[in-house]
Amino acid sequence: MREYTVAVVGATGAVGNEMVATLEQRKFPVKSLKLLASERSIGKTLTYKGKEVPVDELKEDSFEGVEIGLFSAGGSISQKFAPLAWESGCVVVDNTSAWRMDPNIPLVVPEVNAHAIKDYKNKGIIANPNCSTIQMVVALKPLHDAAKIKRVVVSTYQAVSGTGKKAIFELETQVSDLFNNREITKKVYPHQIAFNCLPHIDVFTENGYTKEELKMINETKKIMEDDSIQVTATTVRVPVFYGHSESVNVEFERPLSPEEARELLKKAPGVIVADDPSKNIYPLAIYAAGKDETFVGRIRKDESVEHGLNMWIVADNIRKGAALNAVQIAEILTKTYL
Ligand code: A2P
Repeated sequence: MREYTVAVVGATGAVGNEMVATLEQRKFPVKSLKLLASERSIGKTLTYKGKEVPVDELKEDSFEGVEIGLFSAGGSISQKFAPLAWESGCVVVDNTSAWRMDPNIPLVVPEVNAHAIKDYKNKGIIANPNCSTIQMVVALKPLHDAAKIKRVVVSTYQAVSGTGKKAIFELETQVSDLFNNREITKKVYPHQIAFNCLPHIDVFTENGYTKEELKMINETKKIMEDDSIQVTATTVRVPVFYGHSESVNVEFERPLSPEEARELLKKAPGVIVADDPSKNIYPLAIYAAGKDETFVGRIRKDESVEHGLNMWIVADNIRKGAALNAVQIAEILTKTYL
């Protein structure tokens, strides 16, 4: 089997660490692995297949000889370095929001629109969607195919790991400070995140929505390849370390019973139905953490509209919401296109 030279950009971050682990776990055909981060990380190493791999500083010539680059070091880094990587022949799978809505760049969730990867040559970049969007469309696609979605109303309960390692540390530290009667410090979030919920993810825009909410609205249409789907979102940061949860209300054009939805979802790739209220079984962030699948439960009829369902969707935001989805895209690239 052909093997590839792979670079992970932002390797020292929460998603970068998981990308390295996912490459190993899924036995990705890696010939050699290059770990890249800022100059702050010079001297650090990460373990890959039992060996210590040094982290190098990301530079303009870092992509010479690299065939696949997995990027998760922030939008401005991707904007600058992804085109440079492609000039050296390196295909980029970009986990930031920098390129997602570019009409020439595919935005891919393999379970939903793997075929879009064929357009990778337009700019040498494939965008990995927003974490909350990925898990929602994995669950919605089979239902859309069956009964055509008219409208989605989603509220999210998002883990702090989505903001990166600094936010994981901030929640840990605030919890410890509060238990020890110390003043808390706030660096990452504008308010205390411990024992609190912040209806504010990414920056606010002029229409009162946050960018995170607009990502869910716009990316859903692009990935599902259907601009007629109406989406509205409220995205909330909660004091959970790993695993995003979502309350999703869906209105369909045609009837779809909870039983039919459950059957469709049981057969859907990457989905596990966890839905037995009589035994208190429903998706939970603590169980989804570390897993690859998207968990769906609490599936019930929305009695207030003609064809509506409510559901609760949970996935590990760092795995399916980021690193795993990116590695899945890279797997399809190697098997079908490179
Ligand atoms: P570093 O650890 O050297 O700062 P997280 O989202 O968990 O905060 O991780 C962000 C990732 O992006 C880290 O690997 C971080 O590296 C990397 N990064 C941030 N700024 C830069 C930069 N200017 N050049 C290269 N990598 C960067």
